[in-house]
Amino acid sequence: MLIGVVAEVDPSETRVAATPETVKKFAALGADVAIQHGAGLKSGVTDADYQAAGARLAEAGQVLSEADILLKVRRPTESELAGLKSGALVVASMDPYGRLDAIEAMAKARIAAFAMELLPRITRAQSMDVLSSQANLAGYRAVIDAAAEYGRALPMMMTPAGTVPAAKAFIMGVGVAGLQAIATARRLGAVVTATDVRPATKEQVESLGAKFIAVEDEEFKQAETAGGYAKEMSKAYQAKQAELVAAHIAKQDIVIATALIPGRPAPLLITADMARSMRPGSVIVDLAVERGGNCELAKAGETVVTEGGVKIVGYSNVTRLAATASSLYARNLYAFVETLIDKATKSLAVKWDDELVKATLLTRDGAIVHPNFKPKSAA
Ligand code: NAI
Repeated sequence: MLIGVVAEVDPSETRVAATPETVKKFAALGADVAIQHGAGLKSGVTDADYQAAGARLAEAGQVLSEADILLKVRRPTESELAGLKSGALVVASMDPYGRLDAIEAMAKARIAAFAMELLPRITRAQSMDVLSSQANLAGYRAVIDAAAEYGRALPMMMTPAGTVPAAKAFIMGVGVAGLQAIATARRLGAVVTATDVRPATKEQVESLGAKFIAVEDEEFKQAETAGGYAKEMSKAYQAKQAELVAAHIAKQDIVIATALIPGRPAPLLITADMARSMRPGSVIVDLAVERGGNCELAKAGETVVTEGGVKIVGYSNVTRLAATASSLYARNLYAFVETLIDKATKSLAVKWDDELVKATLLTRDGAIVHPNFKPKSAA
């Protein structure tokens, strides 16, 4: 049983899907591990580190053609698919929504593709939850980025030259990323407010010492799905929310936007006018930028500066914490892949009817098998 790891093809992706720690654990399960030369360099892991952990180094082509399980950060590219052997398992963040073409290509390549972001949020899967591990770091890094771009201090300071006021930070969307952003901004001394459409977040925000702000009407009371995610809100709610947010944002120094709805584009919460209403030097960090953005002016991978001097930061920011992000991501993958291996025979033994397998498996034996993505006629 060979587990393969290749360097990510996307030049902006700095993470790697296995670390020396997880290589050792896979070896202990009886697996051989082959790593592409240089795969860990952007995450601070050298080839020698992997070798010392028991992996062998190989060219990408060899890793792809021999791997029984390929571990990746991002979905395999066309050329990677062409190099994989039929029946190989590929475990990655597949970003499947809206990319039926890519799912079809994986089916055609006859791989068993597992999308880690589709794991249910149940206790058993917590250690495998890539969305949580990466969002937590993204929330932290967003505040660090905001502090770096902001031309003023965050904490209140009483100095002989007079008092510096505390910065006001507003966190929009209080999931995993938002909660970490609140905690980080508070630690840096900002005065923090936060908003979300899920009622459960109110208590969480307050327990972190921040103030909760939201339109708390009847719709708000029903806004959480059974899975714990947000629903897309009605036009009427969105209008009320926009009014509240517009008045609040104009008084903020830093806004961190993290609002997402699974399988849907990110909700637009900060219009261009709202962004422009902030005072010069204010910063908006849009963590939802890769899903269309919470801020109308955000651009992926860029910092946009308005004529009025408001900065809108759109970095894909876990990639700017590559070593930490990779170490948690690799552990998430290990925790999942471990369940696909029979420890007694030290061989691959996928339980195809296991709920975690069923929830994540996109393609198998040349077909799309996930109910959310199956062609209508076959569903
Ligand atoms: P997410 O990344 O899907 O969304 C981020 C936040 O944006 C959410 O809190 C969502 O309610 C909010 N949002 C969506 N639309 C909005 C709007 N129009 N205005 C303001 N906010 C909006 O969420 P994430 O971080 O994945 O967390 C989702 C839930 O899952 C949370 O309840 C979290 O505590 C829970 N969770 C449970 C885990 C478990 O294993 N039991 C693990 C991780 C998270």
